[in-house]
Amino acid sequence: MKIGLIGLGRIGQVHLESLGAIDGVEVVCVSDINETLCQQTVNKFNIPTYTLTYEDLISDPEVQAVWVCSPSNFHYTHVTSCLKKNKLVFCEKPLEINSEKIQELIDQFPDIDKRLMVGFNRRFDSNFSFVKSNTQKIGKPTILKITSRDPQPPPIEYIKTSGGIFMDMTIHDFDMASFMVDAKPISIYATGGVNYNPAFTGIDIDTALITIKFENGVICNIDNSRKCTYGYDQRLEFLGDQGMLSAENEKEHQATFFSSTGLESSLCKDFFIDRYIKAYSIENQTFIQCAQKNIEFPVTAKDALIALQLAQAANLSLKQNKVIHLND
Ligand SMILES: NC(=O)c1ccc[n+]([C@@H]2O[C@H](COP(=O)([O-])OP(=O)(O)OC[C@H]3O[C@@H](n4cnc5c(N)ncnc54)[C@H](O)[C@@H]3O)[C@@H](O)[C@H]2O)c1
Repeated sequence: MKIGLIGLGRIGQVHLESLGAIDGVEVVCVSDINETLCQQTVNKFNIPTYTLTYEDLISDPEVQAVWVCSPSNFHYTHVTSCLKKNKLVFCEKPLEINSEKIQELIDQFPDIDKRLMVGFNRRFDSNFSFVKSNTQKIGKPTILKITSRDPQPPPIEYIKTSGGIFMDMTIHDFDMASFMVDAKPISIYATGGVNYNPAFTGIDIDTALITIKFENGVICNIDNSRKCTYGYDQRLEFLGDQGMLSAENEKEHQATFFSSTGLESSLCKDFFIDRYIKAYSIENQTFIQCAQKNIEFPVTAKDALIALQLAQAANLSLKQNKVIHLND
């Protein structure tokens, strides 16, 4: 399969590395507005061409599928243009930060589930997929606790185009909650503040706690922090009346030094590239397999819409400091 990729920043480079290791896949063109980065990238990955405008990439008849890794505020434009040109599309999260636009995509392209996959990579992490595939063992599920803390806040420039913490960071956790609980969310309460970088004030928050109730009785708590001194903290607990499933952090090593003054062990993995490197690879392989079989992708525009609606409701809850009932 011949692939084009738009956006050569942090996550674009991760996908290029991973796609390069898949048999039968060739990245034939990349695009970014930064020409130096384009040149460095084609040299590094031995890619035949680059373009400075995404239109040139998606007009290339050789390109069968496009990876959209541009900043979030360009996703909708890039995805829609690709779909109109009959390309298969992998789009990084968030697909879009306006739910009406996602609904428009769903309405405009009836076979969209076979043409667009959204990058909720954590579903492909082996720890979380173990929990998902064993949920029936905990009996009646009652409490889901998700901890998701970044090592340090992103630059303020990134924040300005990110859509805010709920759209940018918690969106992964909203998707994880929907994926695990597999029931309709009925209410949400979100609170938070700015604790790490005063420059965020008035633009975004950097610390948040969110509580979601689902119609099957599960209560989910999500704990987000843009700063975490011990690394990238990614954990989950799912409690039921017959037991609990737990996914712990991955660490650089599992050994521990015991002494009279305490214990010494390894920190959590540094950030998303270390922690989820295998998940990105499984995610990309999954895309290629589904595309080759012409079957629906496992993470769809509908999933992006559900996560986005939770993010929008969380923003409203934060602003109004009240529980938002999702049927209202
Ligand atoms: N799934 C994940 O774990 C994960 C992790 C990080 C980022 N992301 C998502 O990936 C996207 C990119 O994030 P990033 O961290 O790589 O950002 P980044 O700022 O590192 O990279 C973005 C790149 O896009 C380029 N760009 C800007 N405007 C463009 C345009 N109009 N056309 C083409 N290229 C353009 C920039 O020059 C830059 O090279 C965001 O939507 C983000 O939410 C997902």
